[in-house]
Amino acid sequence: MIEQAKRLDHVKEYYFSSKLREVRAMAAAGKDIINLGIGSPDLAPPQQVISALNEALVNTGAHQYQPYKGTPDFRNAIAEFYQNHYQVSLNAETEILPLMGSKEGITHISMAFLNEGDEVLIPNPGYPTYSSVTELVGAKAVYYDLNAEGNWLPNLEELAKKDLSKVKLMWVNYPHMPTGASANEKLFADLVKFGKENNILIVNDNPYSFILNDNPKSILKAEGAKDVVLELNSLSKSFNMAGWRIGMLCGSEKNLNTVLKVKTNMDSGMFYPLQAGAAAALRLNGDWFSAQNEIYQSRKEKVLKLAEALQCEPEKDQTGMFVWAKVPKGTNAEAFVDFLLNKYHIFTAPGFIFGSNGEGYIRFSLCATEENINRAIKRIKPA
Ligand SMILES: Cc1ncc(COP(=O)(O)O)c(C=O)c1O
Repeated sequence: MIEQAKRLDHVKEYYFSSKLREVRAMAAAGKDIINLGIGSPDLAPPQQVISALNEALVNTGAHQYQPYKGTPDFRNAIAEFYQNHYQVSLNAETEILPLMGSKEGITHISMAFLNEGDEVLIPNPGYPTYSSVTELVGAKAVYYDLNAEGNWLPNLEELAKKDLSKVKLMWVNYPHMPTGASANEKLFADLVKFGKENNILIVNDNPYSFILNDNPKSILKAEGAKDVVLELNSLSKSFNMAGWRIGMLCGSEKNLNTVLKVKTNMDSGMFYPLQAGAAAALRLNGDWFSAQNEIYQSRKEKVLKLAEALQCEPEKDQTGMFVWAKVPKGTNAEAFVDFLLNKYHIFTAPGFIFGSNGEGYIRFSLCATEENINRAIKRIKPA
């Protein structure tokens, strides 16, 4: 009997990995499941991206190992993207590191900066990977509260009163998943100050800034940010390329070189056509986002109707590709999600999987066709 490593003792299988097995089994048994659970864009990537990928397939050297730091053209496209959309100037040679999605970056950053016993500030609620990777590397998760009363933003004044001497890293994620809250420039400036005063590396995970968000922002625009900040970004949601596994990490040369020490020992570069396709995506103009957002906006209106039919209470002013809502008073969210799945065959995500402050909430994904959302509404409220 070979035992698993101790580092896995506190790590559970990702909720969706196990829940989707159950959902697939129901579908295989003939149930017509409407999936509003997971944020995997169902829309097609831009046509220019598919063409660039195809053309790159026959390039000389396309099938060889690629540079560890990504191709120069892809890095240049990232620099142009940051300049055009966030007004952030990055050195394409030294301040950009392409990644296989931002999820891999969470692991690399944690391995690169955390020692056993170091503390890590993690949003509650938040993306579950921050905590599981923290556990995997033997560091200690210290949760900071986000709640509706505080507009799902961190209270840095309160945090500063705590003993932060062991805290080395803080995860922030604006626009925020699962609540759809967004940060303003002041919060980003305050986070930079907080990082500097307490010697904490601040990492903003920013994959949602172009979905139903009028004002995309990067924390790297805050003055002096590069000294203490890293930012993860991704093409998964912005360009419907989640399965491509392609994203980026931006920040100071020194911090990126630290991450590179881990990454160069983990993979050997990304397939050239993926990088060529991703560069084409990043060079598209804003019309791409407007067209996507028109679709997401009408889906959102339908999902809000579905939420109303279920007597859920959606949060106000949400950005991103989800609707975050309170379940009806007196209802347990996990039981509510199971009830929706078993009775109506509608799959949604319970808020508790994002942390204890997600208790009592449910997350609806906008990655479903309007037709399917309409069908879901009809199942709840037959005409
Ligand atoms: C907050 C957050 N960060 C990161 C990711 C992972 O994105 P990627 O596909 O770039 O790895 C997700 C995906 O759902 C997410 O919600």
